Amino acid sequence: PQVGVSRAHESAHLHVSGEAVYTDDIAEVRGTLHAALGLSPMAHGRLQSIDVALLRRQPGVVDVITAADLPGENNCGPLLHDDPLLADGELRYLGQPVFAVIATDRELARRAAALARTAIQAEPLPPVLTAREAHALGQYVVPPMHLKRGDAATALAQAPHRLDGEWSVGGQEQFYLEGQISYALPQEDQGLLVHCSTQHPSEMQALVAHALGGLAHQVTVQCRRMGGGFGGKESQSALFACIAAVAAARLRAPVKLRVDRDDDFLVTGRRHGFDYRWTVGFDDQGHLLAADIDLISNCGHSADLSAPVMTRALCHFDNAYWLPNVSMHGYCARTNTQSNTAFRGFGGPQGALAIEMILDSVARRLGLDPLLVRQRNFYRDGCDVTPYGQPVEDNLLQPLTDRLVATSDYHARRQEIDAFNAGSPVLKRGLALTPLKFGISFNVVHLNQAGALVHVYTDGSVLVNHGGTEMGQGLNTKVAQVVAQALGVPLSRVRTSATDTSKVANTSATAASTGADLNGKAAQDAALKIRQRLEPLAARLLGCDVEALVFEAGWVRVAAGAGSADPSRRIAFTELVAKAYLERIQLWSEGFYATPGLHWDRTTLTGKPFFYFAYGAAVAEVVVDTLTGESRVLRADVLHDVGQSLNPALDIGQVEGAFVQGQGWLTTEELVWHPKSGLLLTHAPSTYKIPTANDMPADFRVALFDAPNRADSIHRSKAVGEPPLLLPFSVLLAIKDAVAAAGPARCDPPLRAPATAEAVLRAVDAVQGAQ
Ligand code: MTE
Ligand code: MOS
Repeated sequence: PQVGVSRAHESAHLHVSGEAVYTDDIAEVRGTLHAALGLSPMAHGRLQSIDVALLRRQPGVVDVITAADLPGENNCGPLLHDDPLLADGELRYLGQPVFAVIATDRELARRAAALARTAIQAEPLPPVLTAREAHALGQYVVPPMHLKRGDAATALAQAPHRLDGEWSVGGQEQFYLEGQISYALPQEDQGLLVHCSTQHPSEMQALVAHALGGLAHQVTVQCRRMGGGFGGKESQSALFACIAAVAAARLRAPVKLRVDRDDDFLVTGRRHGFDYRWTVGFDDQGHLLAADIDLISNCGHSADLSAPVMTRALCHFDNAYWLPNVSMHGYCARTNTQSNTAFRGFGGPQGALAIEMILDSVARRLGLDPLLVRQRNFYRDGCDVTPYGQPVEDNLLQPLTDRLVATSDYHARRQEIDAFNAGSPVLKRGLALTPLKFGISFNVVHLNQAGALVHVYTDGSVLVNHGGTEMGQGLNTKVAQVVAQALGVPLSRVRTSATDTSKVANTSATAASTGADLNGKAAQDAALKIRQRLEPLAARLLGCDVEALVFEAGWVRVAAGAGSADPSRRIAFTELVAKAYLERIQLWSEGFYATPGLHWDRTTLTGKPFFYFAYGAAVAEVVVDTLTGESRVLRADVLHDVGQSLNPALDIGQVEGAFVQGQGWLTTEELVWHPKSGLLLTHAPSTYKIPTANDMPADFRVALFDAPNRADSIHRSKAVGEPPLLLPFSVLLAIKDAVAAAGPARCDPPLRAPATAEAVLRAVDAVQGAQ
């Protein structure tokens, strides 16, 4: 079989040899010009003037573009039109692009753009820099959202126990290794070709067309691969595509815009940090009876994808748990910072982490093992409908955690760790198991569609083009496997070409982990159409019924036991294809897929937004130095559900990568804005700490839970891109567990995330001060 087997990423050999071509590696056309962005020097202000003459005088400068020079719409907002390409009138955050300089080389363009401080005249206004401040002012990018079930107020009043608290989790920079970049080339036929590192070529095409005041058919957007996207190139590649395109169209010359890491940090947004205020009611066993929670996200200056991110947060607050009475309120706070956007999990992690922290506090209040309290609250028969009304029909929580508890030796290690801690005054160990349930599909029904194009050439080789984008996750490999399986040819016969808006039109972003689900089905549809056209000819040549044909390993043969047909007869796929061509049979096809059965009501936040759920759980063991606050992950055991895996090697890579990425979010990656000026101080790896190889769990055991998807997904697999980002909640809670061991019995450490060494020390001080 071609699916369900581990295959190397289609570009693995190019990645490791440094030969893979990313946008900046595409050979530059003669006469290529380079753009750079002049950035707002203040977080909030009224723009008075831009000294364009000064900028134009700089060496190498060919052109300067301001908002007034834009031929079409001054917007790169994906949903609301509230996101100017270049500042117009108002300066909204420190780092906002105000003008673009076009010069003969990149260095000269950057030097001129760096004069922004001198060239921009503006009257400063007081900025709003934190979500709490914005929330207090009622300043939001979209109206507040409410998701309710049952009667939380009454259930809270009647609950035997109540607990309330405030908590916060920081944002996270995508830190794709390849930064934002676009290269726009005017074509001979009046069209414009834009090479863009983007997860969403169709949206780039539409926004470029709007910025040019033109039509979509004039713009072609191409992306062969990204050096990582992680959500950061879902909408926010648009600024770069539009500026490069506007400059190229204006100057009738190829223009490239590539920002360096510092500017990437200052210009673009990232994962939303969240603040929470919650009250829960529960019984003596720790069953949650009611929950009331405010979720306040820091959206930055514009809406971008903040509304759907909040929707996903609200739809994941339940995580693995039955919440009979719940009242959730989502506030999308508008601040004078970068506009926050998609990042792996898309708000889901921020929703689910809140309930995990709450359950941990409930368990500590009752003096129970948090794992026990979690299991008592699991969705189960009769208690299996989510707050947004979708029944949990594919629940794997109990069998999956049972298996992980056994394979990780949870209970024995719990006792060992308690014994270790009793005799260790400085180093404390901690252990935690956290489960996850993650809804798969775009929460907006119409986005759940995809197209593909499959060409079979007369030599039997196959070229696939689909609407998804490759960002390292292995989508092209999985789609090629699906096509190889459908046509019964070896994987080496199938090649995938660059995503291109002139091949498959009106595609959705490669996001919400749906890349393989949607594009795999569309490509399978296309391949099966070709196969169906070949079948009558093959049946004639082999003297059998169409039903008896088997397409396998480059051959078409007769199934054993198929009536009177001779089972030894077979024909090579290449030969069949060559004959089909002579018979004038169409050897290429389009394919399409739309996920069935989805519906969603945006006003009540109810419906069936997800085709199915993915599940997983992790056990993390950490050691914390209570004198320095440093922590290490000693061991992590993961059991993760990918249905029937299309490619176990790729899936395990996704699980490991997501785990460590989420671990970074919750432990070392801290974003700090200057409290007065609003400058993002952590805008480079010198101050912003992503995990390194050394931060990987010292002992890392990842296994896939092998059970076919109950939903009719592509070969019964499940999406894997985002769900495992929730696994390292176990790391944060293990750190909290270790800190709790430094304080009195039943203490509940006030540990915020990221749990940096400083944050851990503060929590240690707090629990020890309480002694
Ligand atoms: N893996 C790699 N190597 N690079 C990435 O940028 N992005 C993640 C995830 N895994 C990403 C990745 C995100 S945010 C999503 S939504 C999915 O991949 C998108 O791809 P898929 O739908 O094909 O899984
Ligand atoms: Mo992923 S955050 O949906 O691009």
